[in-house]
Amino acid sequence: MGNPSYLEANDHLLQDIERKGQRKELPPRGEISLASNDYLHLSRHPRLIESAIEELRRSGTGATGSRLLSGNHPLNRELEIAISAFKNAPSALVFSTGYQANMSAIGALSGLVDLLYSDALNHASLIDGIRLGKKETAIFPHNDFSWIERDLEMRRQKSGDFPRFMVVTESLFSMEGDLSPLEDLVRVVRDRDGLLLVDDAHATGTIGAEGRGGFEQAGLTWDPERVILTGTFSKALGGLGGFVACHPDYRELLLSRGRGFVYSTALPPSVLASNLEAVRLLGEGNGLVQSLARRVSKVRSLLDAPESPSPVIPIMGNRNALLSFQERLLETALWAPLVFPPTVPDGSERIRLSVTLGWEEGWIDRIAEFFHREKGLKAGG
Ligand SMILES: Cc1ncc(COP(=O)(O)O)c(C=O)c1O
Repeated sequence: MGNPSYLEANDHLLQDIERKGQRKELPPRGEISLASNDYLHLSRHPRLIESAIEELRRSGTGATGSRLLSGNHPLNRELEIAISAFKNAPSALVFSTGYQANMSAIGALSGLVDLLYSDALNHASLIDGIRLGKKETAIFPHNDFSWIERDLEMRRQKSGDFPRFMVVTESLFSMEGDLSPLEDLVRVVRDRDGLLLVDDAHATGTIGAEGRGGFEQAGLTWDPERVILTGTFSKALGGLGGFVACHPDYRELLLSRGRGFVYSTALPPSVLASNLEAVRLLGEGNGLVQSLARRVSKVRSLLDAPESPSPVIPIMGNRNALLSFQERLLETALWAPLVFPPTVPDGSERIRLSVTLGWEEGWIDRIAEFFHREKGLKAGG
């Protein structure tokens, strides 16, 4: 008997996915998603749209190559200067997606350490960077910095010294909606000579008094020799692309060793232009971040969710209650997607709501009403 055909083998994989309840489908067309990452509704902002159109006319549709070859449009540099100023960073490097920024930064910086600590709920782009780094990895229970301290102490007792290590985490977790204990993590790496990489993807534009992210929210400054920030223009900044904000020497390393930087086409100039406009807009402090904060607080209070500045609110409960909540919303053309493993841990499927300035007041009342009609739903984050 020969090998199954590739389509038969493919079918086996699909059956396996089905069995594990992991089959994904694209959302219904035309519905309004309540899980959008367009937190400040900037994807529809006239200033971003105009700047993209102008640049599109000036520079055309594509970047025509990697930045190391033909794609190094001057707007890349302007955007790097703007985002590093926004993040209080000495320098930054722009990537074509946040996924590539994370994967490339961790992959390259792994060359500096022997051991990586990864939060159990880290995003796939961080996990893929860790895989690329091919260094020993210890997964620590979500946000449990004392686990890292104990592990490091154990290693020190065994070998006489702390290993060279990097802790990898998110500042605002994309599916849990909670914040990481940055102050404690900074102390762990400072006292034991480690590095800390923080993904500010969902925190940029959403938390901190001026929307500057996790460190601003925690009231901390960060040491660029020890802390590396990553982020994306694709969420609160309404566009596309990623960035690493870091010490200029790390930037230099990423230029040569950041695989997603070296081997991928740069962002189209029009996208760079709208990203730049978004960063400028936020830097002007025009009340957008405060409006989001007020709305988050209102929705959290209506859903009895814990008080937090986080716009990501997971709705937990048994599958039937979640599906019924989803169905009611869908009847009114609101789409609240169910997220299930492996995107979230086994047994913790949820509906992910993300509050944005694009939400209308009427939706908030509807969401609250349907939420309270179901028994056993709980809002978290
Ligand atoms: C925590 C986190 N990091 C990184 C990314 C990747 O960003 P991008 O969508 O720009 O590739 C995402 C988006 O899914 C995310 O949720």
